[in-house]
Amino acid sequence: MNPDLPFSPAADRNRGPIGDMLQQWLPRGAAVLELASGTGQHAAHLAAVRPDWTWQPTEAEAAALPALALRCAGLANVAVPQHLDVLNGPWPTRPGGWDAVFCANLVHIAPWAVTPALMRGAASVLAPQGQLVMYGPYIVDGEPLAPGNQAFDADLRQRHPAWGLRRLAAVDEVAAAAGLQRVGRADMPANNLMLRWRFAKSVTT
Ligand SMILES: C[S@@+](CC[C@H](N)C(=O)[O-])C[C@H]1O[C@@H](n2cnc3c(N)ncnc32)[C@H](O)[C@@H]1O
Repeated sequence: MNPDLPFSPAADRNRGPIGDMLQQWLPRGAAVLELASGTGQHAAHLAAVRPDWTWQPTEAEAAALPALALRCAGLANVAVPQHLDVLNGPWPTRPGGWDAVFCANLVHIAPWAVTPALMRGAASVLAPQGQLVMYGPYIVDGEPLAPGNQAFDADLRQRHPAWGLRRLAAVDEVAAAAGLQRVGRADMPANNLMLRWRFAKSVTT
């Protein structure tokens, strides 16, 4: 590991559980578009664990791209990281669409407008049978919010009034407006959730 690269202790902790769940949810040979790749720790880990997956990292912070590229250098199944602000696009496309769009820890550390933009953008680039997978903390109606998430929410709102944990019901609503229906939820360590949506028209009941 290059000690000069930016490092997220949280990404180091959660990459294993995220990888375990993605391996259950994503098909063999999946082509994955990652949003808000940050330090690239998830991209590098997941691409190494699954050489059959191809991974396209993206990040809104242009200054983060060189380190992200450096972290993934040497992994033949990781494409050159691209600039993507989900509010503005343009979204990287792929013939036939992406099998998955993956995004960890974005929607609570961004204004609400990012969430509907993310849903619309993901729906515009996913393959017909593709899935959107998101990881992070959420507020679930009817379920107590863990003290750690309450404190995290308060801290986020203090840092920026437009930030904060999102209500899962509200996220599902904007997903539905983009044609996506939630088809999976997994409870993850440290009171995080892993969620997945597919095109409603592809879901057989
Ligand atoms: C908390 S970090 C999460 C990084 C990584 N996904 C992880 O879980 O370790 C949030 C990331 O979202 C990115 N971000 C913020 N606003 C964004 C936007 N509008 N579009 C795409 N990425 C954005 C930030 O630059 C940052 O890298």
